Amino acid sequence: MSEATSAIEVCIAGTGSYVPEKILTNAELAVLVDTSDEWIVSRTGIKERRIAAEGEFTSHMATHAARRALEQAGMVAEDIELIIVATITPDTPTPATACYVQQALGANNAVAFDISAACSGFLYAMKISKRLISDGAFKNALIIGAEKLSAVTNWDDRTTCVLFGDGAGAAVLRRAEPGEGSILATEMGTDGNLTHLLNIPGGGTACPITAKNANDHLQTLTMMGKEVFKHAVNRMKEAAEKVISRAGLHPEDIACVIPHQANLRIIDAIADRLAVPNERVFVNLDKYGNTSAAAVAIALDEANRTGAFKRGDNIVLVVFGAGLTWAAAAIRW
Ligand code: ACO
Repeated sequence: MSEATSAIEVCIAGTGSYVPEKILTNAELAVLVDTSDEWIVSRTGIKERRIAAEGEFTSHMATHAARRALEQAGMVAEDIELIIVATITPDTPTPATACYVQQALGANNAVAFDISAACSGFLYAMKISKRLISDGAFKNALIIGAEKLSAVTNWDDRTTCVLFGDGAGAAVLRRAEPGEGSILATEMGTDGNLTHLLNIPGGGTACPITAKNANDHLQTLTMMGKEVFKHAVNRMKEAAEKVISRAGLHPEDIACVIPHQANLRIIDAIADRLAVPNERVFVNLDKYGNTSAAAVAIALDEANRTGAFKRGDNIVLVVFGAGLTWAAAAIRW
């Protein structure tokens, strides 16, 4: 059965987001490493990013975003049956960050676990929870993308430290009532042959944290930017096209495309290839940089709350990240 004709349709009942207070501008970064506002803006579109406070963890940001999504959905924490946190910067290796979020929210009736799919994690969580709800296993789900990337950034490496930021975004999914919008189609993909292009080499069993490894910055993000760029454009274009076509839509039917917020040049290239005008593409990376799993979730919430689309509109979310991984969703709001 195609997703578009599942017996139980699944809608997004509320969105929320949170970013830390502290702003780190390009000018401030230019004091730390050999870079400039001009280079960063012209190569990426990023002007500033948010940095979590020392004692502010991924679960704290996730919880703030979740509360806002619950409020918009008109639900309380006890209503939630499933919590999935997508993150590559968990509070602890175990238990899952989702368990801390469950505790902080008082969502005592929820099953809670994390998934690790880098920048694609939020849409992986959306597909998993949509299927679990439409199969009848759960009535609803709280999905969250949350990252404290500042904790895994090499602040001496100008090729990566200018790109990343911290934050969290959340959405409440539930069974749709007749006449409500729904998630029409979803797509996920992975190419594990390209793990070397974008990774954090240390901190796992392959390369445990030792004083030497930490000193060599092996617990921080490394990226072959040019290679990643090419794959990002191609994979996101293909994934978006698949969900648009599976939903029975055409590019001109899409009111808003919300892409992963990594680089404005990537976003422009995708809009161009999809033949979607730039004014229908939501961008907020100038304010937050790349917040990995949180990026598309924060963008969805901001687009929702600022009226970038309205009830009944078709929107497309599309993401790309380490793995390599990619995903897309077509949604009738
Ligand atoms: N300031 C000044 N100069 C810099 C900086 C900087 N911050 N960073 C790199 N440079 C220099 C390089 O050293 C290089 O100099 P050289 O020509 O003398 O060797 C020159 O600028 C060009 O560097 P490139 O790496 O070729 O720059 P590029 O135009 O490719 O931009 C970027 C780099 C922004 C990283 C881009 O490749 C990109 O956005 N890639 C994709 C990122 C992405 O989508 N990631 C996916 C998700 S992330 C996740 O999953 C966690």
